[in-house]
Amino acid sequence: MKLKIAILAGDGIGPEVTREAVNILKAVAEFGGHDFSFTEALIGGVAITAEGAPLPKQTIDIALDSDAVLLGAVGDNKFNHLTPDKRPEAGLLQIRQVLGGYANLRPCLAFAALGDNSPLRREVTKGVDILFVRELLGGLYFGQPRWWNKETGEAVNTMRYTKDEVLRVGRVAFELARKRRKKLTQVDKANVLECSQLWRATIDELKADYPDVTVEHQLVDSMAMHLMNIPRNFDVVLTENLFGDILSDESGIITGSLGMLPSATLGGKVNLYEPVHGSAPDIAGQGKANPLGAILTAAMLLRHSAGLEEDALAIEAAVDKVLGAGHRTSDIARGGAAANATTHEMGRLVHSALSESIDKQQSLHAV
Ligand code: IPM
Ligand code: MN
Repeated sequence: MKLKIAILAGDGIGPEVTREAVNILKAVAEFGGHDFSFTEALIGGVAITAEGAPLPKQTIDIALDSDAVLLGAVGDNKFNHLTPDKRPEAGLLQIRQVLGGYANLRPCLAFAALGDNSPLRREVTKGVDILFVRELLGGLYFGQPRWWNKETGEAVNTMRYTKDEVLRVGRVAFELARKRRKKLTQVDKANVLECSQLWRATIDELKADYPDVTVEHQLVDSMAMHLMNIPRNFDVVLTENLFGDILSDESGIITGSLGMLPSATLGGKVNLYEPVHGSAPDIAGQGKANPLGAILTAAMLLRHSAGLEEDALAIEAAVDKVLGAGHRTSDIARGGAAANATTHEMGRLVHSALSESIDKQQSLHAV
């Protein structure tokens, strides 16, 4: 199998976690005899510094010419004084638009080994397996008009959705629910917002096509509470852009760390893969970052852009095994325990667990 992967490592901890994810992809290519190529390009603050723009044209060309884009993180406090359209984050929003993926899948899986890492009790988080489907190209992030008039002290952002935008991401969510536990929770603020009423009406219409899927609606404020109280009640959670941004960070509490969460954005010209965490400038370059979010993101890339489901599962199992053996980066070393693995060591441990499991599989096939 041949795969051209664009690597947009970005800012802060982006490069160090992405390096570990790429090592894992290289291992999968080697074991499986695949031909994966990697082309690096600039995005975010590093692109502003080098090229004067958060998403240079060359990066767009490389991304559009690839089969999948793997992104690290963007954001650098050095650019906090700039308006939103000039900041590193603008590069991320632009690449999402250019690639065109509208369905952002953000799984939240509670690894048993991290059961004591969450401030929630073990019996609350046990067995949690939620898949957030966040609409990624609409809502307040992109709605026009948007402005801030510093003279009058007034600012405007626009939440705007069309029925078609809800339908296309809704279909993705229903299809995914159908392959899972067949429950879809749609989250909105329909008691206040017209956009949310459009979402609700559209999903209610769509559910006729998926009679096997149970649909429930939740208001985002009470959803934020239920998520901490009874997270096991949720299977696929579908929501608009900003609510999805907020709820997916909140779900980091269930896994024990935001550093564990991967994501995949589907539906556009080229799929985009990025961990949910940010650039964490406070710990960048110190070997403290958790590469597991990026590594699990690489697994999603293999699953959704290469059809290599077995390899994706093998990576997820390797992560589980490494955690089970007690290896921890600082974000998941709670309860007073010190971190016992650096970013690179964590990556190497997953790599060797993966090699072992693949060796075993190959000798089983040979029998
Ligand atoms: C995320 C991030 C981004 C977002 C920021 C960096 C623009 O928080 O991917 O969740 O809000 O989408
Ligand atoms: Mn976010």
